[in-house]
Amino acid sequence: MHPLEQLRDDALREIEAASDEQALEATRIKYLGKSGSISAWGEQMKTLGKEERPVIGRLLNETRNAVTVAIEKRAEILRSQKESVALAGIDISLPGVTVPSAYSGYSGYSTRSIALTGYSGYLPLERGSRHPLTQMLQQSIQIFRRMGFSLADGPDIEDEWHCFDALNTPPDHPARNEQDTFYLPDGRLLRTHTSTVQIRAMESAPPPLRVIAPGAAYRRDEIDATHSAQFHQIEGLYVDENVSVADLKGALEFFLRELFGPETDVQFRPHYFPFTEPSLEVYMRSKALKGGERWIEVAGCGMVHPAVFEAVNKARSDKAYDAEKWSGYAFGLGMDRLAMILFDIPDIRLFAQNDLRFLRQFA
Ligand code: PHE
Repeated sequence: MHPLEQLRDDALREIEAASDEQALEATRIKYLGKSGSISAWGEQMKTLGKEERPVIGRLLNETRNAVTVAIEKRAEILRSQKESVALAGIDISLPGVTVPSAYSGYSGYSTRSIALTGYSGYLPLERGSRHPLTQMLQQSIQIFRRMGFSLADGPDIEDEWHCFDALNTPPDHPARNEQDTFYLPDGRLLRTHTSTVQIRAMESAPPPLRVIAPGAAYRRDEIDATHSAQFHQIEGLYVDENVSVADLKGALEFFLRELFGPETDVQFRPHYFPFTEPSLEVYMRSKALKGGERWIEVAGCGMVHPAVFEAVNKARSDKAYDAEKWSGYAFGLGMDRLAMILFDIPDIRLFAQNDLRFLRQFA
C-alpha cells in the first residue's frame, strides 16, 4: 500500500470517529490544513522525478477529494444530530395562541411571550380534526387502493349526457324528473350519482380500467334523519377481460369486512338499474355494531350494461369498449350511510350542521 493510501484510510477512520464539530475540525486541520499531512505531500511533489509525478499526483488528488467529501458528509450528519437534540426539548404539539389583529403588529409582545405570561384576551388556538365523513372516505379509499383501484374525478355540475343518457337512462326515466334532480337554467344539473365519473373515466382511457370516484351527489329528497339533498358516494368501476359477478361480490364483501370487521354479513338482492345488467342491491349487517342485527342497504351494483359501453365508444369515436371482449362491474356506495353505521350517528343532518359538539366527538 502506498503511504498516501495509508494516510487516506487513517483520515477516513478519524473522520468517522469525530463525535462533534470541534473534533471534526481538528481532523480537518491535521490532514488538509496548511501544514497538514496531505498538504505536506503537495510540497513533496516538487522533489519527485518526471515519471513518478503524474502517478503520485493523481493519487494525491484522489486522497484529497475523498477526505474532503468525507468531512462534508460527517459535518452534515453532526449538524442534523445537533438539530434533533435541540428539537427534542420542544413540544411542537403544544397549542399556540391567536393574537387579536390589533395587537399582532405590536413589537413589544411576541406570540410566545403572550403565551408565557398568560396575558388574557388571547385565545388559545384550538387543534382541528377531520370531519367524520372525510375520515370515512379516507379509510374507504385506502381499502380500495390496496385492491388496485386508482382515483378518478369529475365535476359536481354535470351535463345530462354524462348523468343519464350515457348511462342508458332515457329521457322519460323518472330519475330525470325535475322533482328528483336540481337543474341549472342552462340545462346542466347537479349530478345525482357519481356514476358520471364511470363515463368520464372510460372516455379518457381504454380498458383495462379500475377506478373509484369518491364525491358528493345531489337529489331533491325530502330531508329527514336519513335523507339529505347532498350526500356522498364512492363509485367503483372495473373493466377487464372475463370480469364476473363473482369478482364484484368478492370485492364488495372484502371492502365491507375490512371496514366493519370479519363478522360482517353481506347480502346481494336483485334490483334494477338502467346502466347495469344484472343489477343488485347490497345489504349488510354486523353483530359487532350497535343495532347490527338489522340488514341495511349500503350500495347498488351490477355488471356494466353493453349500452353504456356503446355510448362511450360513440363519444370516443372508436371501439375500445367492445362488449364482446370486455366486461365490467360497477358499484355505488353510500358513504353517509356507512359513516352513520360505523360511528353510530342517528341523523344524517348532523353531517352538515357544523355543530362543534357533534364534530368534536370524532377528533
Ligand atoms: N348510481 C347508483 C345510485 O346512485 C348506484 C350504482 C352504481 C348502481 C353503479 C349500480 C352500479 O343509486
